[in-house]
Amino acid sequence: MRVLASRSFPGPAFAELADVEFLDSALPDGLREGRPGVEALAVVSETVDDRSLELLPDLRLVANYGAGYDGIDVEACRRRGVAVTNTPGVLDAATADLAFALILATRRRIVEADALVRARRWESGWAEGQILGEDVSGATLGVVGFGRIGRAVARRARGFDMRILYAQRRRLPTEDEQKLGVEYRPLEALLSEAEIVTLHVPVTEETLGFIDERRLRLMRDGACLVNTARGQIVEEAPLVDALAEGRLRAGLDVFAHEPDVPADLLGLPNVVLTPHIGSATAETREAMTRVLVDNILAAEAGRPLPNRVA
Ligand code: 8YV
Repeated sequence: MRVLASRSFPGPAFAELADVEFLDSALPDGLREGRPGVEALAVVSETVDDRSLELLPDLRLVANYGAGYDGIDVEACRRRGVAVTNTPGVLDAATADLAFALILATRRRIVEADALVRARRWESGWAEGQILGEDVSGATLGVVGFGRIGRAVARRARGFDMRILYAQRRRLPTEDEQKLGVEYRPLEALLSEAEIVTLHVPVTEETLGFIDERRLRLMRDGACLVNTARGQIVEEAPLVDALAEGRLRAGLDVFAHEPDVPADLLGLPNVVLTPHIGSATAETREAMTRVLVDNILAAEAGRPLPNRVA
């Protein structure tokens, strides 16, 4: 099966693909002319639109490296009989770890503390009010979206004796809630009750900008918003305002227009910023390549696709 890849992928599994050609740059710009004969396209959460599909008349599969596939026009793929796969599961732990790192970093002001030491501003020895943060242990955590990554965050939170609220479209059966040690809240109740809110929903028509100005205002003064999901879920301008006013804290790994980060965030001490590194560990990225390749090999052999999303 001829594979067109927007880049090479880390780890040994990628070498199992016998026939790979590479684009010079990411989609959609990287594809300027027709490529008959290409049957699988391997991309990293890029834009795969109708125009790109038009240029690939023999395409049978779009294999996305990543869990979120919001850049792919799934409807256009369906119309053309092109399957879509992703790489879920293997990145849950790394992404949940990063969400937790951002929770700890924002509540305990780790980045500010590090900057203070490096700038030789640690002059007073012990000072009662120096880098005074807020507890993570025992705090109330609100998990928005209780799929695999949201649950992995909740498991970590139990180790910190946190009270865990969750919001999602479908409430879990009571016995599952008890087993997981979580309490259901409708989204807006969760936003007004939690001290830390962490987002784990995909981008869909329903979730696009759904943490808007009104919902941001529901959050408690001093609460912390952590986003390791997608920037488009939150309306960025009112979030920036709430952070500039010092009303909220945030740990942000994702942004609405990556790699652009609103300039107003860069000088704020109450925000920790990371460059979309939820899955960025060597082990996880290699495991994602394994899953990507398994889907392509299954398509080649005519077997059911292990991670088909469309
Ligand atoms: C990737 C991700 O780094 O899985 C996802 O949805 O966001 C990350 O694992 C991403 O796909 C690259 O943009």
